[in-house]
Amino acid sequence: MDLATLEALRSPAGVPSHPLIFLGLGVLTWALHIIAVYVVVGGGLLSLYGLMQRGHDHWQRLSAMLLDHAKIGVSIAIVVGVAPLLFVQVIYDPFWYVSNVLSARWAIGFIVFLLLGYWALWLHYGQVRRAGGSASPSWLIVALLLILLVGFIMHVLSMQMLSPQEWLNWYAPGGHIDASGSHIHDYSLPRWLFIVGLAVPVGGAWLMACRQYLAGRDGEDAGYLAFLGALGRKLALWGGLVSLVMLAAWMASLPAAAAGFALSPWTLAVAATLMLLALLTWKAPDGAGYYMPVLALLAALALGALREAYRYAVLHGGFGYDFMNYKIVMDWYSTILFFATFLVVGGIPLAFMLSLSWQAGRSRGVYTASPLIAKLGVASVVVALLWVVQYFAFGAFVLVR
Ligand code: HEM
Repeated sequence: MDLATLEALRSPAGVPSHPLIFLGLGVLTWALHIIAVYVVVGGGLLSLYGLMQRGHDHWQRLSAMLLDHAKIGVSIAIVVGVAPLLFVQVIYDPFWYVSNVLSARWAIGFIVFLLLGYWALWLHYGQVRRAGGSASPSWLIVALLLILLVGFIMHVLSMQMLSPQEWLNWYAPGGHIDASGSHIHDYSLPRWLFIVGLAVPVGGAWLMACRQYLAGRDGEDAGYLAFLGALGRKLALWGGLVSLVMLAAWMASLPAAAAGFALSPWTLAVAATLMLLALLTWKAPDGAGYYMPVLALLAALALGALREAYRYAVLHGGFGYDFMNYKIVMDWYSTILFFATFLVVGGIPLAFMLSLSWQAGRSRGVYTASPLIAKLGVASVVVALLWVVQYFAFGAFVLVR
């Protein structure tokens, strides 16, 4: 596939802001997405293990707690997954769309599998509420398998876009067109295992923060807190060390043309942040629990940057494609609207929901929101309404002007 053809697949409308803005937001939002995925996958796996430790109160309690987190985590992973999806489509549209069309059934199946996985998680949740620790793990296993499949489909789409030289063979193998979109053409098990496996050390960091949160509750069980701290440290240390080996395995599996990337500053930065996550969590005093997810976010940001640097190295180094020279048709309204939406329409309701659930989780019995939190709730509805009004008002202005 030559450069001219690749560039002809770009949107003729250009991009509405500098491509670097989309790249930076893509890395940031992908890091948030993958942290939510880690809470789902790591929390779900631990919840499953805990459920099977019948008669062990701490494991049973942990299992129920992490099931709650995983349930909420799926919705957050979806919401913050949409953002990097938009950004990759903006600057890498020729690659992303071809990859999706080549495996169209899987790209559409992604939504179906996600829905089924989420339903299975809720079915399991219902069973746990009814039967407690004696609930069967079957629906949780189904949910986890489907959620992992969803992540695998995203991985396949990310991989296929990196091989334009293969697209024609995949579309018309042996000269016969196969427009079914039913095949998966490319994947890298070491890359997928490394990225998904990070759920273990990140899960450890998450437990440290949970421990600190629960420690702020009156009369909390000291034995349970100690259990959480010990488990969190162990998972972060051993999970972090295994992840380093997996990172090396992924780098060793890179194609010959990209082999030099293995020792790039991007890869070293991921290795360094992973070591920080593992060692600092292992050594962290109990009172430092909230810092551990921040370290996890740092590692996710480094990984997000590595994914982009690798994509750039392959597509620019191998095919001359440079997202930086995308035609810019500056659109200030949409740029300002995006940041205002992100910060105000996203920020205020998020502050409301976080502070509400934070305080509700800390109090015993019936919780009544403080006046400040109640005001935040009203403000959340008001900014959402204002957003809808500006949407229709701007649309009407464009139509009549
Ligand atoms: C809840 C189940 C999900 C899991 C387990 C999951 C997991 C993953 C993984 C492992 C990757 C990295 C793939 C790689 O780089 O090789 C990834 C990337 C990505 N995911 Fe998810 N994901 C999930 C749901 C979603 C949803 C619902 C969306 C969007 C609505 C989404 C959007 C994305 C995007 C845009 C990327 C990056 C694609 C790219 O830049 O090449 N994910 N996801």
